Amino acid sequence: MTLRHALVRLVTPLVWRVPGHGARKLYGFARAEQASRIDLLLAAQRTASLARRALYLRHALDETRHAAMFWRRSTELRLDDQRAPFTPPVADTEDLFERLGERRFLAFVHRGERRGREQFELYARHFGERGDPRTEALFQAILVDERRHESYTRSLLVELAGGEPAARSELRRAALWEAWRTWRRAGRALAGAIYALAMTLIYLVTGPVAAVGLRAMRRRARWQLAAPVPQPSTEPATPPAGPAMQPPAEPATQSAQPAMQPPAQPATQPPAQPATQSTQSATQPPAQPATQPQAQPAREASR
Ligand SMILES: [Fe+2]
Ligand SMILES: [Fe+2]
Repeated sequence: MTLRHALVRLVTPLVWRVPGHGARKLYGFARAEQASRIDLLLAAQRTASLARRALYLRHALDETRHAAMFWRRSTELRLDDQRAPFTPPVADTEDLFERLGERRFLAFVHRGERRGREQFELYARHFGERGDPRTEALFQAILVDERRHESYTRSLLVELAGGEPAARSELRRAALWEAWRTWRRAGRALAGAIYALAMTLIYLVTGPVAAVGLRAMRRRARWQLAAPVPQPSTEPATPPAGPAMQPPAEPATQSAQPAMQPPAQPATQPPAQPATQSTQSATQPPAQPATQPQAQPAREASR
């Protein structure tokens, strides 16, 4: 008896009595059977032997039926508890035939069938003793197929490996691969739990700090927004503010503007007015006095 089998035997009377556990457990079996069905259909598609293809297809049909049986019993238990039944079982595939090769795949399937058969025998006995003939009959009916699966996969493995010792060696390698896969799955689940815990702690610690920081920023923003309000009264002072905002680009222009404007205005206006006045006086005044006095005498002369 393996350690796993002893542990299952120890906890079985307890866990099946947990409310709702029976339906969940049977639904889990339905999903496992569905996954096995997919693996066997892929194996039937890829094997080079027509005889083995027929065996894999028959096995896949059995697993399809088992998935439906487990799901139906799970639904009954859920309805008895006045709960909604689970959805039809859906499973994914790991493409085991492609990854492991046919011999290792057969060793893996054989180990799974043997484990399932031992587990189902235990459960059938448990429900018989508990007075649940319906669930007991379910396991007993499925056990008929599981025993055949366990047997034929062992025979095929010996045939493909070339003998009993080689088959045992393949089974040991399959066991090591399974242990590696279980360790990786456990590591992934543990990493997910640690990540969720760490993120929750970070959120709980940084959340209040972020809230305090945001409140402080809002206060500072109110003070800064209140400052521009009086600016409309200081709008006349914006022209000086203009040059003050352009300093980076205007060091040269600022010096150029004062240099060009002030000299230009004083230089042009003061001299210009006198100059224009002088020019106007030089052009207009002389013209008016020169023409009017001369023309009037002429008209008068012509009259
Ligand atoms: Fe099965
Ligand atoms: Fe099976």
